[in-house]
Amino acid sequence: MDRYAVFGHPVGHSKSPQIHAAFAAQTGQSLSYEAIDAPPDGFAEALRDFIEQGGRGCNVTVPFKDEAYRLADRCDALAGQAQAVNTLRVEPGGRLAGFNTDGIGLLRDLTQNLGLVLAGRRVLLVGAGGAAAGIVGPLLAAGIAQLVIVNRTPQRAGDLARRFAAHGPVRAAPLQAPGSGFDLVLNATAAGLGGRAPDLPVAVFSPETVAYDLVYGPAAGPFLALARQAGAGACHDGLGMLVEQAAEAFWLWRGVRPATAPVIAALRGA
Ligand code: ATR
Repeated sequence: MDRYAVFGHPVGHSKSPQIHAAFAAQTGQSLSYEAIDAPPDGFAEALRDFIEQGGRGCNVTVPFKDEAYRLADRCDALAGQAQAVNTLRVEPGGRLAGFNTDGIGLLRDLTQNLGLVLAGRRVLLVGAGGAAAGIVGPLLAAGIAQLVIVNRTPQRAGDLARRFAAHGPVRAAPLQAPGSGFDLVLNATAAGLGGRAPDLPVAVFSPETVAYDLVYGPAAGPFLALARQAGAGACHDGLGMLVEQAAEAFWLWRGVRPATAPVIAALRGA
């Protein structure tokens, strides 16, 4: 049976095994998918062992996406832009192909599942780490009118905006003064993992604003609570993005596109 896995640290509560098992059952693909907790300095070794034991591909999550980018023998354009890889595929001959499906996953959730139109919209991106870097290119490619990036450490927001300046209308702003009138506010910080919301002024939210946290479950709680209290029109966590990025990885590995709606519904119901 073909073996797949998600590598992370920690990774115990990952929903990816459940998602890929559902995709495999739905599409009649015979495969196994497990969560592998690699030590912070042991990802390369754990990946090598996995491939030696027949691993065909894997997802990569925090904190190994940068290292996966460096370990890949070749990367697709989105992974190259993001300088981060969340999906690896073992090619014939053993070479490793790297992909980043996070941006595609976010866009599919926003536009197909939530029905948002991105073209012409003003978007605020909070955060400038790996998660943020993975979505800037796809957001700009979707034809948004403006992307403003803010971050606790302002220099990283400036660096990220400069890196993508040739791709569309993107600029950095101070976390305390991002402006207002945003159609969409995306939280790509890790603040929620520590039970906190980023220190944003409430004026970024209005009844016309959709607030979206890239993480799901309790970690999305603080940001979405802030957005709700500040009057955001709609609030969503990143469960749909998680399932959509997984579907894209599944397609890259198996050449089959699973239906995502029933899997999202099952996870929401659980
Ligand atoms: P990831 O791959 O999850 O993006 P990362 O590259 O370490 O991880 O980036 C974490 C992001 O969350 C950064 O934007 C970070 O801000 P800094 O650049 O200032 O570190 C942000 N972040 C983490 N904790 C935060 C907090 N308590 N408040 C606001 N931003 C926070």
